[in-house]
Amino acid sequence: MKLKNKVVFITGGASGIGKASAIAAAKEGATVVIADLASSKYEETLVEIEFNKVQSLFVPIDVANVESVKKAIQTTVEKFGRLDVAFNNAGIAGSYSDIHDLEEEQWQHIIDVNLTGQFYCIKYELQQFLKQGGGIIVNMASIAGLKAENGLIPYTAAKHGMMGLTKNIAVQYGTQNIRANAICPYYIETPLLNDLPAELHSQWVNGTPMKRLGEAEEVAKAFIYLASDDSSYCNGTHILLDGGALARI
Ligand SMILES: NC(=O)c1ccc[n+]([C@@H]2O[C@H](COP(=O)([O-])OP(=O)(O)OC[C@H]3O[C@@H](n4cnc5c(N)ncnc54)[C@H](O)[C@@H]3O)[C@@H](O)[C@H]2O)c1
Repeated sequence: MKLKNKVVFITGGASGIGKASAIAAAKEGATVVIADLASSKYEETLVEIEFNKVQSLFVPIDVANVESVKKAIQTTVEKFGRLDVAFNNAGIAGSYSDIHDLEEEQWQHIIDVNLTGQFYCIKYELQQFLKQGGGIIVNMASIAGLKAENGLIPYTAAKHGMMGLTKNIAVQYGTQNIRANAICPYYIETPLLNDLPAELHSQWVNGTPMKRLGEAEEVAKAFIYLASDDSSYCNGTHILLDGGALARI
């Protein structure tokens, strides 16, 4: 039980990697808060969490809306008294485009959710951590936080930004019992891929020496490591889960 009685807050926890991480945290004894869009299908995740006889809660959140972020964190703390681990995982992919054709609105929307929204979450999570004497942040970046991802322009920019935020947290709060690390997955089989061109699927598969995409549960294992004391000396760094894709660049 690596997270026994820890209060774990997961944005985008209703689907894909967030859902797998929420269930993995419940298996490790955590109290799990699913923070996701009010329209998300979170009920199934809550059932699977509660199967592990731990407490859980759904809080509606739109990470791109600062008032919504403040309320979700406040509701979590009112209900459970503290916040031990925050997984800033919510994100969207956006559509493929070259930079010279990219619509300004598309840029702004992805940046609002995948970068500014992450800053809002981090800011209010840190305020709570400082009040209570510490906490752990895990940020969802991507392989697109480490290299160019052709066609995913604002996504790549936002995920590089997420890496920068992670390093800043580590540097600024290292003496305050606060750690922050990022996760950088290659393509993972989740509903997020439904937004991307299906004809690229075989290209993604062939892009890794293992000739397969990752599973959400494989990413969840990295989350549990970074969320627990097993990673007590990891700070300001990232775990790459890419089946070897970057090794041959
Ligand atoms: N699937 C991949 O290939 C892959 C690879 C690298 C990184 N990631 C990252 O992992 C994270 C999770 O993605 P996933 O693959 O599980 O996708 P997913 O679509 O299955 O889940 C994303 C979740 O985020 C929620 N969400 C979207 N916009 C939101 C908002 N404004 N406020 C709150 N919640 C919001 C959705 O409702 C959904 O539950 C994302 O940040 C994504 O960029 C995914």
